[in-house]
Amino acid sequence: DLPRFVKIVEVGPRDGLQNEKGTVPTSVKIELIHKLVAAGLSVVEATSFVSPKWVPQLADAKDVLKGIQQLPDVRYPVLTPNLRGFEAAVAAGAKEIAVFASASESFSKSNINCTIEESLVRYHDVTAAAKKHGLLIRGYVSCVIGCPVEGAIDPSKVAYVAKELYKMGCSEISLGDTIGVGTPGSVVAMLEAVMSFVPVDKIAVHFHDTYGQALANILVSLQMGISIVDSSVSGLGGCPYAKGATGNVATEDVVYMLHGLGIETNVDLNKLMEDGDYISKHLGRPLGSRTAAALRKL
Ligand code: HMG
Ligand code: MG
Repeated sequence: DLPRFVKIVEVGPRDGLQNEKGTVPTSVKIELIHKLVAAGLSVVEATSFVSPKWVPQLADAKDVLKGIQQLPDVRYPVLTPNLRGFEAAVAAGAKEIAVFASASESFSKSNINCTIEESLVRYHDVTAAAKKHGLLIRGYVSCVIGCPVEGAIDPSKVAYVAKELYKMGCSEISLGDTIGVGTPGSVVAMLEAVMSFVPVDKIAVHFHDTYGQALANILVSLQMGISIVDSSVSGLGGCPYAKGATGNVATEDVVYMLHGLGIETNVDLNKLMEDGDYISKHLGRPLGSRTAAALRKL
């Protein structure tokens, strides 16, 4: 049975913009977040409190978070790699944070400059502090199918990291196919492994569309009972530490598929497409959503 409602976690302002070379003004980021919320998205990942040397595009994290008008029933998670990022996020008004570990040792090194175990120790401190402040916590596992250096990743490694993040108090575990190599076959095997440790209603899927498999992967995830899907408006994105990886699956395409399946999202596709136009024009790139491109031609 497919879920009746799917919660979409819009990651465009963070995952989408983190890899952009040109500067996106803080005011444009704030406007984008407001517009995404106005389209009906109830979770919009706003930015990352990471080292500006590692991710220069998000160096204005504090100003973005302070600049948005947070609505009471909307969540605006921000990425925090360590206590320093956590404290800066709280000072800027964060009510939800996200920690991000990897199932691949090589990717952990290149993305957050430490081993998987070291990252879990660090996140133990971050999640303890978050719980003390009463904040919600999202936990990411990246490279859940494959890693640019190590190739295929064993599902048991993903399950281990997911289980550890869940035990720390993450209320949602997002499983990221960072380089987009998964197919429905490998995704089902990975989800089965994670589901023996994490309840299905706490699992989110996060697909990048490098090989055009994202919607198929989402569909098999829904069939397995998952009802939280991460996506990025106009398919923005790519990780600066995952060479060759394209953007996330486009939110417009996910919404089109879900509505076609009779699944509710609360998202207004027309407004969402306007948001895609807004940021695509600003970045000077063509629409990254097939749905938006098709509907624009009608
Ligand atoms: P490091 O160099 O090992 O740590 O970085 P450090 O403690 O030696 O700090 C280096 C410098 O950064 C120092 O500055 C620190 O003060 C500063 P310096 O003394 O050289 O001037 N620093 C900070 N500045 C601001 N905020 C902070 C902070 N911490 C240290 N929080 C670190 C370690 C984790 C900080 C670094 O590697 C980092 O910031 N990494 C983030 C990388 C990132 O954001 N990647 C993209 C997100 S993950 C992703 O996209 C995957 C996902 O979407 C899922 C999927 O797609 O599958 C989630
Ligand atoms: Mg991502």
